[in-house]
Amino acid sequence: MNAKPRGRFITFEGIDGAGKSTQIALLADALRARGREVLRTREPGGTELGEKLRGLLLGMDMHPDTEAMLMFAARREHLAAVIDPALAAGVWVLSDRFSDATHAYQVGGRGLAAARCDALEAWVHPGFAPDLTFLLDMPLESATARLAAAGAAPDRFERERRGFFARVRAAYLDRARREPARFRVLDATREPETIAAEIAAGIDEKTWQ
Ligand code: TYD
Repeated sequence: MNAKPRGRFITFEGIDGAGKSTQIALLADALRARGREVLRTREPGGTELGEKLRGLLLGMDMHPDTEAMLMFAARREHLAAVIDPALAAGVWVLSDRFSDATHAYQVGGRGLAAARCDALEAWVHPGFAPDLTFLLDMPLESATARLAAAGAAPDRFERERRGFFARVRAAYLDRARREPARFRVLDATREPETIAAEIAAGIDEKTWQ
């Protein structure tokens, strides 16, 4: 008898306020309607330890190296306890951010040396990457307006200045250009339903789905 096919690992990235949560929820519903078993998770977080690290990362000032190492420490736990077992059991995992976020925020935003981020990535998940990554791209002004409209108190990252987010956005777009087969860059200023249809199409065009 054949073992159950491995699940798929799909990640969502973008600057704060780009609308990832809405799209993850819509895709989870669409996949479940097609009979897929789906797990929604997030980074930093996704495990009990990871959520504690998230509290520190979003709340306390720290050295950029510490920040990068804690992001990858949380990720190591997330992979071991949640992502790997789910994929092995045939579950599709939808994650609100993964390692591309460390390249965008810590390398692009904070100026951490790219080689350090690459080294941490090679330690924590050598040879492993998402099957597909949706980058919800939008101008900083639109993202800031959405965050303000949501009204929640800004965390340590959301309090960063404009230049920080400009660098984060540029780093994401640069990564997407380097790995066109894995990334789909979506104009996130449009209606949620339009974006959701493009995300569904992005999945349908993959031969593995
Ligand atoms: P986010 O998904 O935006 O949480 P929320 O929608 O609840 O605000 O993620 C929290 C923050 O963590 C976000 O500002 C980006 C930052 N982050 C990094 O700087 N590096 C990383 O590797 C990850 C995963 C997140």
